[in-house]
Amino acid sequence: MKKQTKQTKQTKQKQTKQKLPHRVADISLAQLGRKEIQAAEKEMPGLMKIRDQHKKNKPLRNVRISGSLHMTVQTAVLIETLSVLGAKLRWASCNIYSTQDEAAAAVVVGQKGSSKDPRGVSVFAWKGETIREYWSQTLEALSFLDAKGKLEGPELIVDDGGDATLLVHKGYELEQGSSWVKTTSQSEEEKEIKRVLLQRYKEDKGFWTRTMKQLKGVSEETTTGVQRLYQMEKEKKLYIPAVNVNDSVTKSKFDNYYGCKESVVDGIKRATDTMIAGKTAVVCGFGDVGKGCAKAFRSQGARVIVSEVDPICALQAAMEGYSVRPVEKALSEGDIYVTTTGNCDIITLAHMKKMKDQAIVCNMGHFDTEIQVDALDKDPSVVKEPIKAQVDRYVFKDGHAIILLASGRLANLGCATGHSSFVMSMSFSNQVIAQIYLWEKQKKLSPTVYLLPKLLDEEIARLHLEHVHASLTVLSKKQRDYLGLKQNHPFKPDRYRY
Ligand code: NAD
Ligand code: ADE
Repeated sequence: MKKQTKQTKQTKQKQTKQKLPHRVADISLAQLGRKEIQAAEKEMPGLMKIRDQHKKNKPLRNVRISGSLHMTVQTAVLIETLSVLGAKLRWASCNIYSTQDEAAAAVVVGQKGSSKDPRGVSVFAWKGETIREYWSQTLEALSFLDAKGKLEGPELIVDDGGDATLLVHKGYELEQGSSWVKTTSQSEEEKEIKRVLLQRYKEDKGFWTRTMKQLKGVSEETTTGVQRLYQMEKEKKLYIPAVNVNDSVTKSKFDNYYGCKESVVDGIKRATDTMIAGKTAVVCGFGDVGKGCAKAFRSQGARVIVSEVDPICALQAAMEGYSVRPVEKALSEGDIYVTTTGNCDIITLAHMKKMKDQAIVCNMGHFDTEIQVDALDKDPSVVKEPIKAQVDRYVFKDGHAIILLASGRLANLGCATGHSSFVMSMSFSNQVIAQIYLWEKQKKLSPTVYLLPKLLDEEIARLHLEHVHASLTVLSKKQRDYLGLKQNHPFKPDRYRY
């Protein structure tokens, strides 16, 4: 785990005296961050138009929003958009390696503040947090103070992966008598979740119950987080309305596919500088992310092998001309391995022992469950040789080595800076609209997972057309009648698959 930088320590030590609570690596990076944010704004037309549309009416005026989402430059534009719409925010990252420290600093300083007098938004994130620090910062992001200095929770959550939602739900269950915090932990993460829950319980025994009462909902960014939400709903353990942002067409069919198509290569190149042309890439999973990764490797001149469990996705991969087979049957060929399944134990220790020398192994799925990194670290016959931050070589008994990126966590965000601004503008326009939706419809919503209406999905696409020099063909009245399309109805029925 990366050690705290000197600046991180200094910034943290000043915490108690701060007017604007925050924890970032180095506040003096704010100027650089601001320049990057300004460049990103030009590539994020959806968010900027939403700002323009709502800056006067401020639909989120004084609403307390907690965010748990990669603290990147693009997320800075999201945070500042929610701020323009009137929200009061606290933010943490949803991954220990994904924070861009300059973006975090710029958001804290804000457009009118300075390093000495920050006037932006409370951010609690830095690149290279430990697991312990990560969960403490997630708790911080959920902890507002009222005018009298009493702790109060958020009214809305922006989540990516479900960690903030998990904390609120587990905290609430603890106060309702659950003994989960006393059970034996299966992982370091679980231990840390329990630690922060017990810490808060000691400080304030009613915090989560008050929070749950005031919480109007969560908008969830990613496939894995959304899967968690549907599971909670099924088990009747979802206590707040939720918007599934991932399955807006303008999110998953763009961010997961086009976003990963570019950022997977960015991550691998920044980490290893390896040539992709002529190599064999093994992509595990052929969903939206896998399709993007496979296409990226092929377009760079690699041979691509895909592994899939779903016959439809396997058939799609085969029809695209990829070789489709279980990962076990690719071990003698693969030079680069990428997991994209959102599942666990996809690349095992036994697999890595059989890989070619210098094989690069990385993950694009949300959690670090896909590659057996724990088993690799614990195997006494394997020697770990750190190369640089987020890049490690593991040498096996027989002398062959593999190169593991970002300790098995998201390689595009751990080794590079995630997706480009334009595609994140689509994802985050969905996030902002979901937040307004949850706030404005709060009386009508129940603890269910909702999708945004297709008309809003189409509207988000519309906001992004001009930027890519696309102009629409307009239906004539005769054509509209011929298709049976009503005015103000979406172009496609819900059953349509894009
Ligand atoms: P998806 O459900 O569309 O695709 C996952 C695919 O993996 C499915 O087709 C499934 O059949 C397959 N799969 C499951 N178990 C498998 C196994 N054992 N072997 C082979 N294939 C298997 O999901 P998605 O939208 O592609 O997202 C995948 C993951 O990436 C999720 O964790 C998601 O949260 C994450 N994600 C990451 C980024 C990023 O920037 N890195 C962006 C979007 C989504
Ligand atoms: N997910 C993928 N890329 C991202 C980015 N640049 N910012 C935030 N979340 C992301």
